[in-house]
Amino acid sequence: MKAGGEKERQGGDRREYTLRWRAQETLGQQRPLKFHDFPSLWPGTHRMRTIAVLVGSISRDSINRRVVEALKLLGKDRFAFVDVRIDDFPLFNVDIAKDPPAQVLRMKKEVSESDAVLIATPEHNRSIPAALKNAIDWGSRPAGHSCWIGKPGAVLGASTGATGTAAAQQHLRTIVSPQQMVLMGQPELYLHWKEGFLNEAGEVSDEAVKKRLELFLERFASWVERVSVKSA
Ligand SMILES: Cc1cc2nc3c(=O)[nH]c(=O)nc-3n(C[C@H](O)[C@H](O)[C@H](O)COP(=O)(O)O)c2cc1C
Repeated sequence: MKAGGEKERQGGDRREYTLRWRAQETLGQQRPLKFHDFPSLWPGTHRMRTIAVLVGSISRDSINRRVVEALKLLGKDRFAFVDVRIDDFPLFNVDIAKDPPAQVLRMKKEVSESDAVLIATPEHNRSIPAALKNAIDWGSRPAGHSCWIGKPGAVLGASTGATGTAAAQQHLRTIVSPQQMVLMGQPELYLHWKEGFLNEAGEVSDEAVKKRLELFLERFASWVERVSVKSA
């Protein structure tokens, strides 16, 4: 039993190594691999991390939601994802911030209990949608009780526009940085959405997009481990 488990672990390590190497080759980002790239090899430190997922779009047919669902399928063996709802909050108002509504407490609990945060945002007039800003504001109060502090995080976004949410993601970084969310810098994931990216089952069918998402997940896994270990 024990030997089988060890064998399985080694198989997983080898798979992880191969995946990372392939992703690096594909994107031409070769560099010497380091020990911190392989969290599953760290004795006693690796466990499945819980990721709180916020989607900045509250649209029923959100393409960002669809990208996130596809990303979750790719990362399901690596992460446990928790979908954090943000569409039922009142507008933030300091007058009611001392006694936040239950929906906000729900979000703060889900985020606080997660190891890291993943935010997917559309771009609305070169910034993030109001619903996402509202959620971030709620999560940041009362002062000293922000749920974002110290959380490893990553951002991505998809847009029908050619710039693929680049401006919105820059704003998002500006907004969460003072909250001391520790955001992964690379790879950036700006998706210029095309309907053919996903198949009918919601899986990524475009090979180039799939590689980008896989690399994103790989790097995010390393990022979460590095930041978590440092702040533990
Ligand atoms: C009010 C509004 C403003 C928008 N502004 C931008 C923009 O500045 N840049 C851009 O690339 N797309 C912009 N779009 C297009 C959206 O990003 C695009 O529709 C995207 O699909 C939304 O993602 P979602 O389906 O996840 O909501 C805007 C859409 C709306 C409704």
